[in-house]
Amino acid sequence: EKGTYNHFMLKEIDEQPFVIRNIVQKYQNDDGDIKLDDDIRSAINDADRLYIIAAGTSYHAGLVGKELMEKAANKPTEVHIASEFLYNEPLLSKNPLFIFISQSGETADCRGVLVNVKKQGFKSLTITNVPGSTLTRESDFTLHTYAGPEIAVASTKAYTAQMAVFSILAMDGARAQGIDTDFNAIRELGLIANAMETLCDQKDIMEQIAHDYMFKTPNCFFIGRARDYHVVQEGALKLKEISYIQAEGFAGGELKHGTIALIEDGTPVVAVTTQEHVNLNIRGNIQEVVARGAKACVISTEATKQEGDQIVLPNINELLTPLLSVVPLQLIAYFAALHRGCDVDKPRNLAKSVTVE
Ligand code: M6R
Repeated sequence: EKGTYNHFMLKEIDEQPFVIRNIVQKYQNDDGDIKLDDDIRSAINDADRLYIIAAGTSYHAGLVGKELMEKAANKPTEVHIASEFLYNEPLLSKNPLFIFISQSGETADCRGVLVNVKKQGFKSLTITNVPGSTLTRESDFTLHTYAGPEIAVASTKAYTAQMAVFSILAMDGARAQGIDTDFNAIRELGLIANAMETLCDQKDIMEQIAHDYMFKTPNCFFIGRARDYHVVQEGALKLKEISYIQAEGFAGGELKHGTIALIEDGTPVVAVTTQEHVNLNIRGNIQEVVARGAKACVISTEATKQEGDQIVLPNINELLTPLLSVVPLQLIAYFAALHRGCDVDKPRNLAKSVTVE
């Protein structure tokens, strides 16, 4: 039920802090340690390489998941678009574990890969919001994202929940291997939930940005580097699927290799900069587009902020900033679609789960 909300999407965006707290609770035991099935722990630790398979928003969560597994748990990980993997199978390692990410657990492209890798005798884990779904029934292990039903076609809380579960897997993987790290997903997720709540209370700011930047534009570019590149791809997908504005997420450094030709007077460019080591680089890219007439909207953090940035997020562990920086992007997409009179929850040509190849 929508309750007091006009749209499921907005309700689901607002639910994210609760979902994150719920995940922390479900994956923590009484001693504050991570609660994870021993079989799943061993499957991850024994694998020489993880292959994340997903589509759409879940694929974008996978990009962040890969970084978490590699940077925090030192586990080689690849991410593949399900429909591509099926027909373009890469060279596999000797002992792979396949991790399927799927909100619905029904995505046919993922299932196609699962059937295929099972035939080859490989183990599989599904991270899903719908236990009992096809992918969970057919894979060896399941992890639940506990986000509650997601009704809006545009995925929001499932995305942040998927990344939260990966942060827990990464922390567990690091501990299981005795890696000396101060990465504490449980603590960070608590901070993130609080910061998400603050952002959700600032809807007027996001609505104003949507109005100022996206009311009339035919297109919009999103730029970011490294981890921020993953999240801007998700921001662009959100905007295009519900507002029908042509939107693309680009790696900041790649703009000058072609895309910058599309920048005109007044073209909106949303830049996300949450990592200190690439802050100056992306600032340079912002200057490049502004010099060609772009109207830049910058989302930074306390550590990376500069005068004039439109949104400044609190500092959290850099590995996890996508969980926070996506919230303004979701809200901006929502208000852009609303202002342009679009059917926010049921965009044209799309279904909630894609059960055909
Ligand atoms: O249920 P799944 O997570 O497998 O769905 C994958 C995509 O179809 C889905 O994320 C889609 O891209 C969303 N509409 C994005 O908001």
